[in-house]
Amino acid sequence: MSGSYIKNPLKAGNLIIVNGHLYDPLENIDIVNGWIIVENGKIRDIGAGHRAFSCDYPIVDAQGSLVCPGFTDIHVHLRQPGGEHKATIESETNAALAGGYTHVLAMPNTSPPPDSVENLDLITPLLEKNALCRVSVCAAASIGRNGVKSVDYQELIQKGIKVFSDDGDCLEDETLLSAMLEKSAETGVTFSDHCEIRALSGKNPVNQGNVAVKLGLRGQKESSETVAAAKGIMLSYETGGHYHIQHISSSKTIELVRWAKARGLNVSCEVTPHHLIMSETDVLTHGTIAKCAPPLRTEHDRRQLISALEDGIIEYIATDHAPHDLKSKNTDMTSASFGIAAIETAVPLLLKLVHAGDISMKTLISCLTRGSYLLGCEKRLLPGSVGDFTIVDPDREWMFSGNRYSMGKNNPFSGTLFKGCIIYTIIDGIVRYEFTC
Ligand code: DOR
Ligand code: ZN
Repeated sequence: MSGSYIKNPLKAGNLIIVNGHLYDPLENIDIVNGWIIVENGKIRDIGAGHRAFSCDYPIVDAQGSLVCPGFTDIHVHLRQPGGEHKATIESETNAALAGGYTHVLAMPNTSPPPDSVENLDLITPLLEKNALCRVSVCAAASIGRNGVKSVDYQELIQKGIKVFSDDGDCLEDETLLSAMLEKSAETGVTFSDHCEIRALSGKNPVNQGNVAVKLGLRGQKESSETVAAAKGIMLSYETGGHYHIQHISSSKTIELVRWAKARGLNVSCEVTPHHLIMSETDVLTHGTIAKCAPPLRTEHDRRQLISALEDGIIEYIATDHAPHDLKSKNTDMTSASFGIAAIETAVPLLLKLVHAGDISMKTLISCLTRGSYLLGCEKRLLPGSVGDFTIVDPDREWMFSGNRYSMGKNNPFSGTLFKGCIIYTIIDGIVRYEFTC
């Protein structure tokens, strides 16, 4: 599939899925008891009820589960090349499969970053050799991700790049930001921004507020996100380019996106499961494990993020899966690395919000499947579509005792009894992950 990589692509997968609740809200498909035939890696046919099958393809029984188009995560850190002491392409794509993801967008804060065709050409063979799920590469927007000189967008676009970002850092320079969005308007690529004005965040470890005061720490001002987002939105207004806000955390940024969407601007945003589930007070319990960028904000912000999902202002849920080694987390708050290795628990955590009645299943699955469209690799429950599925039992209980596949053990939810479980992750009609207790 153009622009995405996976080890040993097995296009010839044949499979029959039976007894599942076929659910693709973006295509208005909702078949309570249905079947799917996958042939040569693609959906051949789909239907309702029970039926006999004459072919001898392997059968997946999805009794009690939702069968959805394979989930796509548009914000994942794989760390390789350069960060192999934290994680590898193999370990993190394995973790992605366990989390129910068939396709991830790899962020560019690697060493070297994908900021030229030469550097991209170093990364793609590693993906072809090691990726266990589909991976698209998010190219850097500036050389070395240092915000001084634009990358050669066109040569990277010709290599299949669909999204640019300096993630980990914000593209603060207005000239570069404007040029990036002009290129986006011309070609349809997305610019995905880590909104953080460094002078306002100070790269401080927590949100500015009561918790920072209690811990005697300097905080990140909310304006570090809002000012960056406002700038991007205005430049999108002027250029028509697609400006995507990563890991939105503040209720005021939501107001800006609402304003932009009311005017039909080409603006979108994503939220992480941790910003939907936790707030700044969780730092008091979890310490450095809950240190992330942007920081967890107030309970008010968290409630507003949930409402904005249900309102359609936030269209994507992305994990910002950020594996770190123990050494970089087992230290004081100021020195510890930012990030949560979130991908294995993302869906079960989000199902907590569904069970609590905070968000609908329709919103959840829409936000987990929409990313495939952004990456130009649409996954739909329709004949002819790629045979990628995530099969989720929303009611099955299981105990999470720490990340099983990710090299990053920095996940704050160890010891949680989850209600809701990924049962199968299927790519090209091949079962790539199956839940075992
Ligand atoms: O928490 C974060 N961790 N936020 C980021 O933007 C970067 C990421 C990382 O690379 O660890
Ligand atoms: Zn980021």
